This record gives sequence, structure tokens and C-alpha cells, in this order.
Amino acid sequence: VSATSTLEAPQLVSSASRRPRIAVFDSGVGGLTVLRAIVALIPNADYIYFGDTARLPYGSKSRETVARYTVEAAKFLETHEPDILVIGCNTASALALYDIKAAVHVPVIGVIEPGAESAAQVSVSREAVVLATEATVGTHAYQRALARRGFATHEKACPLLVPLVEEGWIDHPVTEQVARIYMSEALRAAAHTDVLVLGCTHYPLIKALLRRVVPDSIAIVDSAEATAHAIFDELKYGAQPSQKRNSRPERRSPHAPRFTFYVTDSVEKFARMAPLFLGHPVLDVHHIDLGG
Ligand code: DGL
Repeated sequence: VSATSTLEAPQLVSSASRRPRIAVFDSGVGGLTVLRAIVALIPNADYIYFGDTARLPYGSKSRETVARYTVEAAKFLETHEPDILVIGCNTASALALYDIKAAVHVPVIGVIEPGAESAAQVSVSREAVVLATEATVGTHAYQRALARRGFATHEKACPLLVPLVEEGWIDHPVTEQVARIYMSEALRAAAHTDVLVLGCTHYPLIKALLRRVVPDSIAIVDSAEATAHAIFDELKYGAQPSQKRNSRPERRSPHAPRFTFYVTDSVEKFARMAPLFLGHPVLDVHHIDLGG
């Protein structure tokens, strides 16, 4: 199964004459790492980001609750008529992708399949470790996606990492110690592992820290980047990939990305936290109340 097969009918209607409109859903701020990865590849697009900040974290919630919340948000994003709806949240992708696809009439892509496909491209041993939230691990969505590619997978729930990253402790001895403990537990029964999949929106921010913790023989694959590549391949708008990854976009250029953000909790708090995840300040942030 290729990464792009996660897209189901209705098919994308490519148009070279119009900028792509890309909607990104997440439980909160973490999905900005996914947005950042997409923007780096497709700068010439209009982005609508939805962060369900009032109802996060999703990573400790039940399938029913995550599915209900995510479907509400997906229906809201559908009203903006995106060319593609990206479920940037790993937990929502793992627990609710099929509910979302059934509820909306735009192409939907989650992060699990692209992440698994990316791991398959680098692994020789076909043994992987996946770090994710408790809820994501509980579904074994990554394990199944990797099993289809011939992998034995060791999933490890890392509930402490999300709050540490949100605290801004991305290069902090406490975070490093926590990551070391999680990794040594995960690797205990995984002697042949040659790839580590970052299965949570927050983990790309501690990739450098994880690189120090994880043996050199293990490649690190980031679902956010993998998903960005899958979207780029799918859209085929002729948008030019940015040469300067993670650079601050030039707001005045006609090719610069345009952003609109919707959040369910405080606009100010989101705007305060966003630069850590996105790499630059955010301006156009609106509050939305979905009720549930
Ligand atoms: N966005 C979630 C994920 O990628 C992490 C934060 C949360 O638990 O809501 O799994």
C-alpha cells in the first residue's frame, strides 16, 4: 500500500491556475509541526489550520470522543472547501480516520500511512519502534500499517513527552532523561530495530534530542515530513518546493503561504505557543466554538 493510497474518492481536481487550499486539523498546537513540514514543500498555498485547543489532549481520550470531536472539526474545515484535509494529529488519524472520511466529501489524508511508508523506505531489518500517545498505541494503527509492509513493530506510549514539549523543554536535561528511559524500555525487546517512527505531532521538535539518545544505527522517521511529501506528490500543482526549509515565509511575495488559524480555546495562548511549533509568529487567529 503506498502512502498516496490513503486518499480516497472524491479525487483531487488539480488546477495549475489556482493556489491549492490545504486544511490541517490537529488537537491543538502540535499539528503546526505538520503544517510547517507541508509549507516547506508547498509554500504557494492557502492554509486553514484548526486546533481543538479547548479539548486537547486527544492522546488520553477514548475512540468515541476523539472521533466525535474530529468529525465536528472536519465538517467545519470542509466548509472552507479545501483541496485536501490533512489530519495532522496522529491520535485522530489512528482513532478516527475512517469516521472522518465517511463524514466529509473532500479528500482526507492522515499521518499514519505516510509515516509507515517512509519507515519502509529506509529499513532493512524490517523491525521498527514507534513512539506515540497512549491512545495511538492502543489502536496499534502504526503496527498494522507497518505489518502490511513486512515489519515487526514495538510501540511505546510516551505520555510525558507532549507536556514537556509544550513547556518548551525541547533541549532540556529532564526531557532527555525521560526520552532515554522510554527508548531503553522500547529497545529492550527490539534488538534488530533500524528505524524509529515519531508518531506524534510534538516529537519532531525533539528530533535532535532523540538523535542523541537513539543508537546511530537507527534512522529516525518523522510522520509530519512523510505526510508533507505524500501531499506534495498528490497535489501535483506544480508548486515549487521551497529550497530554504523552515525559513520564515516572505509575507509579501505572491508565492508566500497564506494562513488562517481557528482554535477552540484562547487565541492569545495559541499565538503565544505557535512560534515554537511553526517557526514564525501567527497573525490571523480566530476563536471558534464547536459546541460539543
Ligand atoms: N496531536 C496529538 C498526536 O499527534 C498529541 C497531542 C494530544 O494528545 O492531543 O497524537
